[in-house]
Amino acid sequence: MGHGIAQVSAQAGHATVVREVSADALAKGLGMIRKFLEAGVAKGKITQEAADRTLGNLEGTTELRDLAECDLVIEAVSENLALKRDLIGNIDRVCQPEALFASNTSSLSITELATFTKRPDRFLGLHFFNPVQLMKLVEVVKTLATSDAALKAATDWCRSIGKTVVTVGDSTGFVVNRLLVPYMLDAVRVFEQGLASRDDIDNAMKLGCGYPMGPLFLGDYVGLDTTHAIAQIMFEEFKEPRFAPPPLLRRMVLAGRHGRKTGRGFYDWSTNPPS
Ligand code: CAA
Repeated sequence: MGHGIAQVSAQAGHATVVREVSADALAKGLGMIRKFLEAGVAKGKITQEAADRTLGNLEGTTELRDLAECDLVIEAVSENLALKRDLIGNIDRVCQPEALFASNTSSLSITELATFTKRPDRFLGLHFFNPVQLMKLVEVVKTLATSDAALKAATDWCRSIGKTVVTVGDSTGFVVNRLLVPYMLDAVRVFEQGLASRDDIDNAMKLGCGYPMGPLFLGDYVGLDTTHAIAQIMFEEFKEPRFAPPPLLRRMVLAGRHGRKTGRGFYDWSTNPPS
């Protein structure tokens, strides 16, 4: 999701530094932004000038120290606590003390992530949705330690990039995933139990409820590995069976069928549209 967050920030006129782990990953992320902007120009949604301005506001780097002058740092690495602990601790050391820190985690505790820094009063969650460029919501997650000033600054920034904010407490999954993840897991269970075909499950929810994507397609779109990781974290937190990843989901992740990102999940993503 990092490239989407960087894009909406740059698109709103903020000078934006994108830090990636390698030159390859950086080129891939910036390439995705370029592709989205080109599609926007082709569809007449944005002007060529706006696209050029957005790219001009972006600076790519593989060095953490290039984040030193940033006012707001948003972490969007995988849902892995150890990885986030190392990264957030390192960013805390290089960034100016007054900088605001945010995590885009979907499921880990913001309160716990804040303990990896010396600035828990300036640490909060900014939870974006896929695709970041099109989804209008950000969940702004406030911990017991987050200051009112930090909450206001983060909320103002989200509004400056055109997002609608809902403010939520630091509970695993916040509001959206608390409701969305059990629904997606139930769809996998319905499929696993042979109650209906993939297409019938997805069409049922699209046409029966007016959802823009069916749940199995959405799982592929978000990433089945990500969905599995979120479910696992929610299950560990709440110990409720509805959050437990179904066996089929686990096996698909183990088999590398992560959905769109690996080319195969419930759908085959090598075709356009996915089949
Ligand atoms: N540049 C600018 N605008 C663009 C664009 C581009 N490159 N591509 C599309 N758009 C615009 C379109 O022109 C269109 O605008 P209008 O409504 O003004 O016409 C709008 O964006 C929608 O685009 P499309 O018509 O091409 O696409 P769509 O109607 O098929 O919708 C979608 C695509 C928004 C992704 C929709 O399918 C959707 O909402 N899906 C559900 C996504 C969802 O549930 N996300 C949450 C996942 S959970 C998560 O992320 C959190 C987590 O922790 C796991």
